[in-house]
Amino acid sequence: MLKKSYPYYLANEPVAPNTDLEVTDKYTGEVATRVAMADAKVIDQAIAATVEATTPMAELPPYERQSILNHCVKRFTERADELAMSLCIEAGKPIKDSRGEVSRLIDTFRIAAEESVRMGGEIMNLEISPRARGYRGMFKRVPIGPCSFISPFNFPLNLAAHKVAPAIAVGCPFILKPASRTPIGALIIGEVLAETDLPQGAFSILPCHRDGADLFTTDDRLKLLSFTGSPEVGWDLKARAGKKPVILELGGNAACIVDADADLKDATERLIVGAFYQSGQSCIGVQRILIHESIYSQLSDMLVVATKKLVAGDPKNEKTFIGPMISEKEAERLEIWIKQAKSAGGKILCGGKRDGAMLEATLMEEVPQDQPMCAEEAFGPVAVLSRFSTFEEALKRTNDSRFGLQAGIFTRDIYKIQKAWDELEVGGIIIGDVPSWRVDNMPYGGVKDSGLGREGIRFAMEDMTEIRNLVVRTPPGV
Ligand code: SIN
Repeated sequence: MLKKSYPYYLANEPVAPNTDLEVTDKYTGEVATRVAMADAKVIDQAIAATVEATTPMAELPPYERQSILNHCVKRFTERADELAMSLCIEAGKPIKDSRGEVSRLIDTFRIAAEESVRMGGEIMNLEISPRARGYRGMFKRVPIGPCSFISPFNFPLNLAAHKVAPAIAVGCPFILKPASRTPIGALIIGEVLAETDLPQGAFSILPCHRDGADLFTTDDRLKLLSFTGSPEVGWDLKARAGKKPVILELGGNAACIVDADADLKDATERLIVGAFYQSGQSCIGVQRILIHESIYSQLSDMLVVATKKLVAGDPKNEKTFIGPMISEKEAERLEIWIKQAKSAGGKILCGGKRDGAMLEATLMEEVPQDQPMCAEEAFGPVAVLSRFSTFEEALKRTNDSRFGLQAGIFTRDIYKIQKAWDELEVGGIIIGDVPSWRVDNMPYGGVKDSGLGREGIRFAMEDMTEIRNLVVRTPPGV
């Protein structure tokens, strides 16, 4: 289903000066296709093109931006099978999850199409003191200018879409660097954008190695950097980004609290999905499961039984739930963390074994809090169970992390829900479900080491615009 090779997109045009980047099938390890790579000279040309496109993009009327976004919705819908299979191959994402991501891609562009004609401003009452008598104020939002986007491997389509679609909705030209291991999704987005009437230079999609991609971060012609990926890389980019605002969607080690009043069957089903979908490679995958002591042994038994039933193997198989991790190196890293946690006193309840990039769905308990398996981001199919006696203790332990993206809570107690909303140091709390739940119009992002800013179209659109104020004085007597 993949083509033999893919071009990159420079100033809206497909260009293929080389086929230097090998993209592997993450399950078989074989080369699946080849992709053209950009170097610093090409990135420089792409940035110059975005500067040229700044005014034409800003002047594009909202109904035209909407029609471009609607064209994308139509084409992604028509090409849904191809998009899902490309994700399945390049990311090793099970085919059902791949289809799910394609439907989210379509949602993301659809929401952007709707929002593109909604963005307005505000009329403000300025007459707050006698010296402001006769003054009226109003503000509107104007596009911030050329944007720089860097997207990750775990949602090659939808996390690129969360940057591209709002940029088109507000009228910002952009350059995008997709993850080198999974560039195909973004390049198909490029193919579809190239069918539209976006002004020349409005977009460039440039696979390139991280060490050749410095201009994405440092070039002052770019007016915003939006990065999704690992905390280490993200915070380093921010330190080198100069004056431009930086949006960071980084990692987490999400906790889910299961209180004594939870429906255990429902919680088990949701926790298994939250911990193990796409082999745990999600920033909001369930990593820490905090269970009330009164239900601990019953729920942990149910979780182990359900985990052992998960089908692992070829992601192209309809029945597969656990596919490969993105690379053997990543699977090895997590296997080492499991072994370290075990040596430090942790117990493996199920799983723990690795074959190449395939790591078994693994549940552990009694892992000391300072172990990487608890304290760092696992980003793989492993979750750690622990017990708590009071809800206050569960909240405190959820906050005992350098991360704060989302948290989940299974409880029916409205007072506990309100307390959690007040006290948890996270960007979002999901009640009655796992922290891994997300729909694409909601504000999404983290606090602490998990990042800065929020995505979710409307919120990204705000970041990609600046407020321009207008004050009108009516002289006395008029
Ligand atoms: C992420 O891994 O940050 C994104 C999760 C999602 O969009 O579901």
